Amino acid sequence: MQNLKFIRSDLSQLNGYKPHPGSDSSEPVNIQFDRLDTNESPLDLPPEIKEKLAFIYQQIIETNRYPDGGHESLKNAISEYVNESANLSNSTFTAANISVGNGSDELIRSLLIATCLGGEGSILVANPTFSMYAILAQTLGISVVTIGRNQHNFETDLEAAKSAIIQTQNPPIRVVFVVHPNSPTANCLTAAEITWLKSLPEEILVVIDEAYFEFSQTTLAAELLQHPHWIILRTFSKAFRLAAMRVGYCIAHPQAIAILEKVRLPYNLPSFSIASALMALENRQLLLQSIPQTLNERTKVITALSAHSILEITPSRTNFIYLRVKPGYQDAENHVLTNLNQKLRSQGTLIRLLPNGLRITIGTPAENNRTIERIQAALS
Ligand SMILES: Cc1ncc(COP(=O)(O)O)c(C=O)c1O
Repeated sequence: MQNLKFIRSDLSQLNGYKPHPGSDSSEPVNIQFDRLDTNESPLDLPPEIKEKLAFIYQQIIETNRYPDGGHESLKNAISEYVNESANLSNSTFTAANISVGNGSDELIRSLLIATCLGGEGSILVANPTFSMYAILAQTLGISVVTIGRNQHNFETDLEAAKSAIIQTQNPPIRVVFVVHPNSPTANCLTAAEITWLKSLPEEILVVIDEAYFEFSQTTLAAELLQHPHWIILRTFSKAFRLAAMRVGYCIAHPQAIAILEKVRLPYNLPSFSIASALMALENRQLLLQSIPQTLNERTKVITALSAHSILEITPSRTNFIYLRVKPGYQDAENHVLTNLNQKLRSQGTLIRLLPNGLRITIGTPAENNRTIERIQAALS
């Protein structure tokens, strides 16, 4: 196809995010698949909560009116949850510390606009990591500096990070993205990584993405008080079972929040999404009760798959596992992983194929049993 003359030339080279395999074509995702490729919860909302939401939709939401563009009640509820879940006093974070986005993806883009746009800065990411930081940066013409990780514990290559920060000029690195715990490798930040983050100067924004906090139960929220140039990102798409509603939030210094509020679109969250997130927070005890089962299932999957002589599964602090082929069994083109991915797909299990590993979401017990059986059969 001939390039459209009015499009920025750099965008034609860009590989966009591939959401679900179904979105490659006009066909919807077949719900018969075991969808273990996007780290969602395998559980829908309980029927009683859906009924309450249906009532809100029928009786309270006026579809002819714009949604609440200030998000005050949602921000209040989020700040209460953040304080409670980090064992902080209930006045530590308030609505002034919270901004909400159409998924945390929107907040990532707003952060990039607020920091790096117009040639003001580059970003630093340690691969493999969540791909949206680099993809969104590229859509905005922002350059991305990538470094690697330790191949055993997936700690950021800190020497490479330090030298990248010194060497990258015109524009300098303005944002460092870290994920706690990381996707796809499932590990939390180490003490050395946190010490390095603490040493970064105030000109560099540190974004700590805690999308999987409810599974890891580890947060750096308390550190924000000492580090006004740090921001934490969270989402309702994982443990809170609301991926369909697209609600993410960030916790930050009120001045940073004020900038993000300027950058975002006025009515970025539909009324039904706001109502769903509020409902999820009100019912958090019920919704988060499923976490121990996910963690037990994770142990079951890791134990079963680790028994296979060629597979290596590193410890996980999240609702997914990262599976690699042991060094001696690797082939140059990673055929083992590609074949495994294809075989699983042909039998109805969707997982995420990455350059050096497979990321598999922990699903229902039945889905996990099928995954184990299918992988064992594929490798036998
Ligand atoms: C680390 C990380 N951050 C953010 C997101 C996106 O979250 P949201 O659905 O809120 O846009 C994901 C989704 O997979 C993720 O893995």
